[in-house]
Amino acid sequence: MKVRYGSVVNGVVVDPALVPQRTLYTGARVPAIGLGTFGSDHVMASEVAAAVEGAAAVGYRHFDCASVYGNEPQIGYALQQVWRSSIRREQVWITSKLWNDKHGENEVIRSCTQSLADLRLDYLDLYLVHWPFPNFHPPGCDVTSRSKDAKPYLHANFMKTWRKMEELVDLGLVRHIGTSNMSVPKLKLVLHDARIKPAVNEMELHPHFQQPELFEFVRSNGMVPVGYCPIGSPGRPERDRTAEDTVPTQDPVIVKIANRLGVHPAVVCIKWAIQRGQVPIPFSANRNHYLSNLEGAVSGSLTPDDMRAISTIDRNCRLIKGQVFLWKDGQAWEDLWDMNGEITPL
Ligand SMILES: NC(=O)c1ccc[n+]([C@@H]2O[C@H](COP(=O)([O-])OP(=O)(O)OC[C@H]3O[C@@H](n4cnc5c(N)ncnc54)[C@H](OP(=O)(O)O)[C@@H]3O)[C@@H](O)[C@H]2O)c1
Repeated sequence: MKVRYGSVVNGVVVDPALVPQRTLYTGARVPAIGLGTFGSDHVMASEVAAAVEGAAAVGYRHFDCASVYGNEPQIGYALQQVWRSSIRREQVWITSKLWNDKHGENEVIRSCTQSLADLRLDYLDLYLVHWPFPNFHPPGCDVTSRSKDAKPYLHANFMKTWRKMEELVDLGLVRHIGTSNMSVPKLKLVLHDARIKPAVNEMELHPHFQQPELFEFVRSNGMVPVGYCPIGSPGRPERDRTAEDTVPTQDPVIVKIANRLGVHPAVVCIKWAIQRGQVPIPFSANRNHYLSNLEGAVSGSLTPDDMRAISTIDRNCRLIKGQVFLWKDGQAWEDLWDMNGEITPL
């Protein structure tokens, strides 16, 4: 498909109608690419907010926010400028997330209401429980940071939080609720006990971390996988870097396809993600970058051979390991992810 451009005051725009969409179990449709808004502790809130406004101007209609990113007030101001253009609220998908120190029954509605006030919105399209662990760590902390009253995943507690998430839907404050950073065994329990099922699961997904089992589980249970770090998060905080980490944008398979198409390897990661069926939410504060990612979503498809080649380069390389959520001494980050198919015991 050829990219269709229209003219806007300060440049080019991708027609949002051409951006593929995913249908949630409610029938609602979500643009198959969104702009991430985590500045990775080094991109200032004002720069992220400017990117939101700029991205809306070039055709983005989906933004992935969170209270812990520390920039919702600035993004709220940017969104107000967006509504002053011809873009209407109902044309834009906006996600926010409940942070880990707000899982308490009295905190959920209060925290969501705060995000709504900060973002200057009447409702959210999607509200996620950011992590299944109720363990606070301060923004900007290092990898050794631990919450003094850290807890593991306790399903009964999680369901108390989830009941409040369901209430947010009943109250009309959010249209959908979902999970993030879950494993198959945790999701099985939530799906069994939820009155309102999660519409999406947000999870790390890129060519070096394809998570085939969780990806298939999410899809076959009627949820949409939203993929974070779709480019391999080259700007991620220091605490999320280890010597073993690999770089999907340097993978020879990705680089070869990018060279053939004349695009940055990041764009190949985005094309692959959308064609595979997840919703990538790449972050960028650079107009050329976020525009080329959106163009990647509407320009020609990768070939079946490209898709097959990328399916072979999975390195099972999790970048966001979550060490700061560990709840007792002597554990390894693998314990957070239930890698043997059962929830890690207390
Ligand atoms: N649910 C969760 O627990 C969770 C966890 C992590 C992230 N997230 C969400 O996922 C979003 C994306 O993850 P992420 O920001 O960690 O990683 P990412 O999107 O994989 O990578 C972002 C980085 O890639 C660069 N980039 C983007 N497009 C590019 C292009 N076309 N060419 C070259 N470089 C490009 C950006 O730099 P420039 O700014 O210079 O373009 C930025 O440093 C976050 O912003 C957040 O909304 C959610």
